Amino acid sequence: MTETRQHVREEILAYYAQGKEDARLREGGAPAGRLEFWRTQDVLRRLLPAAPARVLDSGGGSGVHAEWLARDGYEVELVDPVPLHVEQAARIPGVRARSGDARSLPADDSAYDVVLLLGPLYHLPERADRVRALGEAYRVVRPGGLVVAATINRFAGLHDVLREERYFDPAQRARTDAVGHHGRHGTEGGLFTTAYFAQPDEPPAEFTDAGLAVEGQYGLEGVAWLMGGVEDWLDDPERREAVLAASRRIESEPTLLGASGHLLTSGRRPL
Ligand SMILES: C[S@@+](CC[C@H](N)C(=O)[O-])C[C@H]1O[C@@H](n2cnc3c(N)ncnc32)[C@H](O)[C@@H]1O
Repeated sequence: MTETRQHVREEILAYYAQGKEDARLREGGAPAGRLEFWRTQDVLRRLLPAAPARVLDSGGGSGVHAEWLARDGYEVELVDPVPLHVEQAARIPGVRARSGDARSLPADDSAYDVVLLLGPLYHLPERADRVRALGEAYRVVRPGGLVVAATINRFAGLHDVLREERYFDPAQRARTDAVGHHGRHGTEGGLFTTAYFAQPDEPPAEFTDAGLAVEGQYGLEGVAWLMGGVEDWLDDPERREAVLAASRRIESEPTLLGASGHLLTSGRRPL
């Protein structure tokens, strides 16, 4: 057993070892996943410095984002604790992938212009671990460099199961209401794995505790992911652009941050 496997919970590794993650955000996947992908790309393309720049994708999974970042001309390194994800990402042209944990990155101090954490924070239920992962991002990004982290919003599960009408099953409703109360998602129900669903004001406080200066927050899916027609809208190029533009217009509206399924928080290591 390696260092990494001792730290990352077995049920998280087992969940991702099923190999379902690679298809989640790609074309042909579920509408919420496609929207999350396009909106993440939209926000990152505005926040990142011009290519070429050195990007570390911490918890980068199978490389769904690393792939387009490399194509855009960035030097991309990816770290993930799941062996299958590392293998998949290592096959992407221009991406260097290795095994590791966001809380103890196998990387040198100040080595990157950008560190992305699009996954690790919501798989670390303890606040001290999330601050540790952000502290590692602080260590490996250069002074003045950018850190962007994703969280799953506290009521994403409620919105999702209501939309899918699974909320009317009493056992599902009890589990969903409990997550809305304390934020901790378990393995029961089999749909996801150990995770923490955060309130929008939590990541900024965690960034600050890690020494990072917070710059912005961006709701990814807005409210469109909750609408019945979204699948057809995303299949139609004109309507898709309208949905993406509408989601962009409300992305940092404070009253709507928690309506999205996922939230990006951006910050910088001070000079
Ligand atoms: C939902 S996937 C997201 C993958 C990719 N970043 C994306 O946005 O599509 C979450 C990822 O976080 C990784 N992860 C979980 N715990 C982690 C940890 N402690 N350190 C680094 N990555 C972790 C998982 O292996 C998985 O690849």
